[in-house]
Amino acid sequence: MTVLEVIQKSSEFLGKKGVDSPRLQVELLLAHVLQLPRMGLYLNFARELTPAELDQVRELIKRRGQREPLQHIVGSTSFVGLEMKVNAHVLVPRPETEELAELGWNFLNAATSTPPTAMDFGTGSGCLAISLAVKSPAAQIQAVDISPEALAVARDNATRHEVQNRIQFHLGDGFAALPPEARFDLIAGNPPYIPSAEIETLDPEVRDHDPRLALNGGADGLDFYHRLAQEAGAFLRPGGRIMLEFGEGQAEAIRGIFESQKWIVEQIKPDYSGRLRVLIARRAD
Ligand SMILES: C[S@@+](CC[C@H](N)C(=O)[O-])C[C@H]1O[C@@H](n2cnc3c(N)ncnc32)[C@H](O)[C@@H]1O
Repeated sequence: MTVLEVIQKSSEFLGKKGVDSPRLQVELLLAHVLQLPRMGLYLNFARELTPAELDQVRELIKRRGQREPLQHIVGSTSFVGLEMKVNAHVLVPRPETEELAELGWNFLNAATSTPPTAMDFGTGSGCLAISLAVKSPAAQIQAVDISPEALAVARDNATRHEVQNRIQFHLGDGFAALPPEARFDLIAGNPPYIPSAEIETLDPEVRDHDPRLALNGGADGLDFYHRLAQEAGAFLRPGGRIMLEFGEGQAEAIRGIFESQKWIVEQIKPDYSGRLRVLIARRAD
C-alpha cells in the first residue's frame, strides 16, 4: 500500500469512528512512523510502505480509532514551541494555556525582584513552569502537584529543556506543599475546573485519557478558585500577581470569588479563539 492509499483509507476509518480532523490525524501518525516531517508525506505519496511500517501504522490508527489521544500515542506535544513528553498521568497541554504562559513570562521579565520568582499550581506535565523558566531566564520557579506520576513527567521535561536547576518540584496538596516562607512575584496555574457531573459528557479523548485529578473541579468546577483566592495572598510578594486559567462560562463567578477575598481583578483575558480564559489579579491590601 502506498502513502497516499494509507492516508485515504485510514482517514475514512477514523472519520467513521468520530475522530475530529481525521486526515490530519492520519498524516501526523504516519509521519511519526516514517520519521518524516508531515509535509514530507506529500513528496512521497507513491512510496510503498514496508510490511513492518504498515503493521505499525495499522496499530497506531487502531488506537486512535479507539479515541486514545494522538499526543499519548506519539508520546509528546508542542507547547509554546517546546516539546513536552506526555503520558496518561498528565493533562495534555492545551493551546489555550499558551496564552497564560506568555502573560506569565512577560510579567516575570518586567519584574524588578532578583531573581523573579513564580509558582506553578498543579504543574502536570510541567508545561507552565518549564516555559516560564525557558522564556524568563533569570526566574526561579516552584512547581506543585499532588500526583507523583505527573511530577516525574514534569521533572523529565525540565531536564529535557535544561531548566531543572531553576525549578523546584514539590509533591503535595497546593500551598501546603511549599516551604512556608516561599514568596512569589507570580502565582500561575491551570487548576482542575470541570464540574464533576460534566466529566462524563466530555469527548472520550478527555473523559477516558486525561487524569481525573486534572479535570475534576468539584460540584460547580470552582473548588480550586475558592482555595486559591483564600490561600494565595499570603505567598505573594508586594506588587505580585496571580494569573489563572479557567473554563468556559466561569469568568464572572471567578471574578466574584476573588473580589470577595480582597483581590483586585485587573484583567480577564480571552484566549486565541476569543473565549474569556485567564484571570489576572493582585492584592487589594
Ligand atoms: C488541569 S491540570 C493542569 C496541568 C498543567 N499545568 C497544564 O496546564 O497542562 C491540573 C493539575 O493539578 C493537579 N492537582 C489536582 N489537585 C491538586 C492539589 N490539591 N494540589 C496540587 N495539584 C493538584 C493535577 O494533578 C493536575 O496535574
